Amino acid sequence: MIIPRAKIQISCLDLGKTFLGLLNPLNDRQKCSPIVEKFASSFAAQFNREYGVAFCKARMGFYHTLKALDLEPGSEVMITPMHIADFINIIRLCGLKPVVVDLEPDSFHIDCEDLKQKITPKTKVLLLTYLYGYAMDMEKILEILDKNNITLLEDCSQALLTEDNGKPVGTFGKAAIFSLSLLKPVSTFNGGVVVTSDKELAAKLKEQAANQNSPAKIGVLVDLVKNVIFKVALSGLIFSKIVLPLLKKFSDYSDFFSKYQKTNKSVSLRQSLPSSFFTRFSDAQARLGIEMLKKYKSGELIRKKIGLSMYDKLESSSSIILPKIRREAENGFWLFPVLVENPEELKKHLLKQNIDSSPILLSLITSEEAFKHFEFSAPNADRTHSRVLFLPIYPQISVAASDVIIDSVIEYSPK
Ligand SMILES: Cc1ncc(COP(=O)(O)O)c(C=O)c1O
Repeated sequence: MIIPRAKIQISCLDLGKTFLGLLNPLNDRQKCSPIVEKFASSFAAQFNREYGVAFCKARMGFYHTLKALDLEPGSEVMITPMHIADFINIIRLCGLKPVVVDLEPDSFHIDCEDLKQKITPKTKVLLLTYLYGYAMDMEKILEILDKNNITLLEDCSQALLTEDNGKPVGTFGKAAIFSLSLLKPVSTFNGGVVVTSDKELAAKLKEQAANQNSPAKIGVLVDLVKNVIFKVALSGLIFSKIVLPLLKKFSDYSDFFSKYQKTNKSVSLRQSLPSSFFTRFSDAQARLGIEMLKKYKSGELIRKKIGLSMYDKLESSSSIILPKIRREAENGFWLFPVLVENPEELKKHLLKQNIDSSPILLSLITSEEAFKHFEFSAPNADRTHSRVLFLPIYPQISVAASDVIIDSVIEYSPK
């Protein structure tokens, strides 16, 4: 059995329609586009939030939210260490100070002890990121934040169906951001949405969104083509006859697939944000988003079920460590990370059995040269980051395929 690492969820029909929509000169003529507003508010409604505002990227949703909060210069914004590096640049460029809070050992949950220790009178915001769809103990986190008057912003880019205590993530903080980039269950090639129930914040965000430049159509088209290439490369015959043999052949050198997928190829200390970050979300993307919103839930429910079943079957395996999960919560299982001393070795072992796993793409903020002067410290996350490998998981994966993956992982014995 041949098992690719991922599947693109956007249909060929939706790809084609979006392509034509991007070329249509009648689109994107209004600064406050009704179709973009419809998409963003439908997105917000999924999370019982009254307002949704779309931006060209989730990170820009974060940027505009920080701006709208109007914090005193030098205020501290806390963030966890496995992230998109630009989030650090955005905090800096808003005149604020980034503070990195560690994760728990062998886990993607924020470490509440480290959180408490790093709070100072200047701490004003925590951006809490639900990595891979894992739920966290919200009661505990909110208690710490409330006691210290800290605003919670949530990054739910990887957690569309995650809940804690019967409440969806994205509804615990003042606002939540969602990325719509490649492989996300609701993807519009690129883009991001901020959802909130705070009327004043929503009004400021809408004003910011309307003030952006016209959509960067070329950029969206490039990402659309990238999606098509992935879709083709991951499909049946092409994957088994061309891509898999190439991945096997070059397994000693590099995973060319993940290098191509990674959007943030190099990390720098930015002096300003690129002008392409100040563009609007396009009408064609909004139409695609509306279609994706109609479809994503059934697939994500399957993904969740497969994820939990894989977790149960692998829990007693001695060949790998599973990151801790909260059993009492609803975990989304957007990806399926396992921890192992030598991820490269496990990757090659799986490849021999035609299973295509993938490496971590998120940056480890603590180890980025560009941010060295901040002297961030997060030893647990450093250790976790060096040991992650992602097993394939997606709504289309069969039970038989997930059993093959599990057997192969159990068979693995580190050299
Ligand atoms: C957890 C998380 N946050 C933020 C982002 C950034 O999204 P964008 O590229 O839309 O800014 C991503 C993208 O993959 C993500 O996984």
